[in-house]
Amino acid sequence: MDRLKGKTALITGGTSGIGLATARLFRAEGARLAVTGRDAERIADTQKELGSETLVIRSEAGSLHEIDALMAQVKNHFGQLDVLFLNAGVAAPAPVELVSESQFDEIMGVNFKGVFFTIQKALPILSGNASIIVTTSITNRTGSPNFSIYGASKAALRSLVQSLSLALIGRGIRVNAINPGPIDTGGFNRLPLPQEVFQAIKGDIEGRSPIKRLGTSEEVAKVALFLASDDSAYVVGEEIVVDGGISLVCLP
Ligand SMILES: NC(=O)c1ccc[n+]([C@@H]2O[C@H](COP(=O)([O-])OP(=O)(O)OC[C@H]3O[C@@H](n4cnc5c(N)ncnc54)[C@H](OP(=O)(O)O)[C@@H]3O)[C@@H](O)[C@H]2O)c1
Repeated sequence: MDRLKGKTALITGGTSGIGLATARLFRAEGARLAVTGRDAERIADTQKELGSETLVIRSEAGSLHEIDALMAQVKNHFGQLDVLFLNAGVAAPAPVELVSESQFDEIMGVNFKGVFFTIQKALPILSGNASIIVTTSITNRTGSPNFSIYGASKAALRSLVQSLSLALIGRGIRVNAINPGPIDTGGFNRLPLPQEVFQAIKGDIEGRSPIKRLGTSEEVAKVALFLASDDSAYVVGEEIVVDGGISLVCLP
């Protein structure tokens, strides 16, 4: 129950799905928390659930000036950070011909640029044995015709995790990634697809998955807890796949 006792953690995208499940678990394990999101209703619900001791902050993950303001708030409240979970991410399916410049910029801005600059701007407040965790995706190695920019943004993160883990381990800071497969989250269920298409995709995933089901946010949160805690003290620059085995049958 006390695996994060005395630690402070910031979770971006902590108001839904994987981030929210991780916030619940980190809190139960004794961490002091700040979480971010955008949607006003989800922010209010999260604040109500996690209580006034948790900072729930509206912050746009791809905006450098909002990242600056976020870090100022976190520094002011906690002084330093022990765990930084970079989990906010956006995905929008589109065939190649229909990808617009604004979609491209949004996906790369939130999923890649925002992650890099959040890490950069957190450095002054990261403690001497901090853990940085980045959420990637199994699409960072597979071809995903209708999620090409999303997959590319997550592939960029995979590279970033390796480079930054080397850049930061000398300061005692570990950088690792969680690589989820299909997880039954709010975001997954809110994908902008017609219901029959969405159900067909879900059925296809369940059929092809060795474990015959989607994962839960809680199953991913437990891996985040491992990477956040000192249990993973010797794990550096790794990407842990949490996908029920589907990449074993989907990867070329
Ligand atoms: N679910 C899956 O199958 C799956 C698979 C592989 C990887 N992932 C990755 O896992 C992470 C979490 O996904 P999820 O499925 O848990 O999604 P989710 O339920 O939609 O949660 C996403 C969280 O990120 C926040 N967020 C999104 N864009 C943001 C932005 N621009 N600025 C600030 N916050 C933002 C959301 O807040 P608002 O709702 O307020 O915008 C929400 O709190 C993402 O990085 C996603 O790419 C998910």
